[in-house]
Amino acid sequence: MKIAVIGSGGREHAIVWKFAQSIPEEDIFVIPGNGGTKNNVNINPNDFNAIEQYCKENKIELIFVGPEDPLANGIVDYFQNKGIKIFGPDKEAARLEGSKIHAKRFMKKYDVATSDFWLEEDGDDIEKVIQQNNGNIVIKYDGLAAGKGVFVCSSVKEAMDALAEIKKRYGKDAKYIVEQKISGQELSIIGFTDGHDIKLLLTSQDHKPAYDGDKGPNTGGMGAYCPVPLATESVLAEIKTKIVDPTLRGIQADGLNYKGVIYFGIMMTQAGPMLLEYNVRFGDPETEVILPSLKSDLLKLVLSCLNGTLSSFKMEFNNGYFVDVVLASGGYPGGYQKNKVIKGLDKISSDSFAFHAGTRMDNGKIITSGGRVINIVGTGSDLKSAINKAYAEVKKVSFDHMFYRKDIAKKGIQS
Ligand code: GLY
Repeated sequence: MKIAVIGSGGREHAIVWKFAQSIPEEDIFVIPGNGGTKNNVNINPNDFNAIEQYCKENKIELIFVGPEDPLANGIVDYFQNKGIKIFGPDKEAARLEGSKIHAKRFMKKYDVATSDFWLEEDGDDIEKVIQQNNGNIVIKYDGLAAGKGVFVCSSVKEAMDALAEIKKRYGKDAKYIVEQKISGQELSIIGFTDGHDIKLLLTSQDHKPAYDGDKGPNTGGMGAYCPVPLATESVLAEIKTKIVDPTLRGIQADGLNYKGVIYFGIMMTQAGPMLLEYNVRFGDPETEVILPSLKSDLLKLVLSCLNGTLSSFKMEFNNGYFVDVVLASGGYPGGYQKNKVIKGLDKISSDSFAFHAGTRMDNGKIITSGGRVINIVGTGSDLKSAINKAYAEVKKVSFDHMFYRKDIAKKGIQS
């Protein structure tokens, strides 16, 4: 079987790497891919017609959609009845990520544990809510914003500035939601669904802020690790009862066409786990640790979702811990320089991984082309040895103005 993977990040490199355990890498095409992936096809992931032509010409039978944009834009709907299998939720189901207001209403409707919220369209007086909470609230732009639409506020001024910023960026009629501010460690729980069942992968934890100690601006994610010791069996049982099971009931009750990856962004609060958000695809950088931890065959898992037989699929995992340190371009998530030659990738040990993100091949050299450049993943029998391994591998790689967090997975040791 030939497969096309849509996307260009570290997530997609990891997906390609995992599929290459099921089929030859020559049979995996990446649209558009990056400097670490082979068989790159320079087509815009939102140009569905061009993707269809390419897949038909090259006898590609299955499309795996990595990022959220094509899903929110209806790529799965487009490929219905086109003779090519596609893995992901359709446009309506993808609204669970594409609209923060829709997602929160879905959570409330199906009794998924989550924080309170206020909406102008429900008649809530938002300025009064901000004043009553002394500005300690979260404001989210309703639509997709590549992680930049969430404002965690601590004062009335910050909250009012956030509202003004949303209107400046997304227009004066931009929709937004105001949420109760909750605190605790975040957990990423990612699973597969065929619409009848949800099967979870191992837990992981992202590191969003740019600098050590969770300081600095939010990024797409500076590192991740898996599994997370905080997610004990009893915590997972509570997450299943309060979040995963009611979500599945909602998917079924709403009759959603959802055969894909489902991501629960959870906060572990004093009052128990609460759902912050859904994503309708794999997380990045979480994928770079959870796929190495997955023993089961990814292609068989995807096909079991498409065939509606996920309930009989046996999920198996590799032992040990997996730590991903993202090497980024100096200045990211603000402005940064590109086209820096990356050295040392050939020295990465065979028991570790270097999943490319913002890289491209130029005259036989790998050069930087984005803010998040490479994910270095180390493994170990315990979390501490996985951390040490990841950082030992990181030391082998360099490019001008490279920076990375030095404390990835430290929370996993402390908790
Ligand atoms: N790691 C969070 C995300 O992929 O959105």
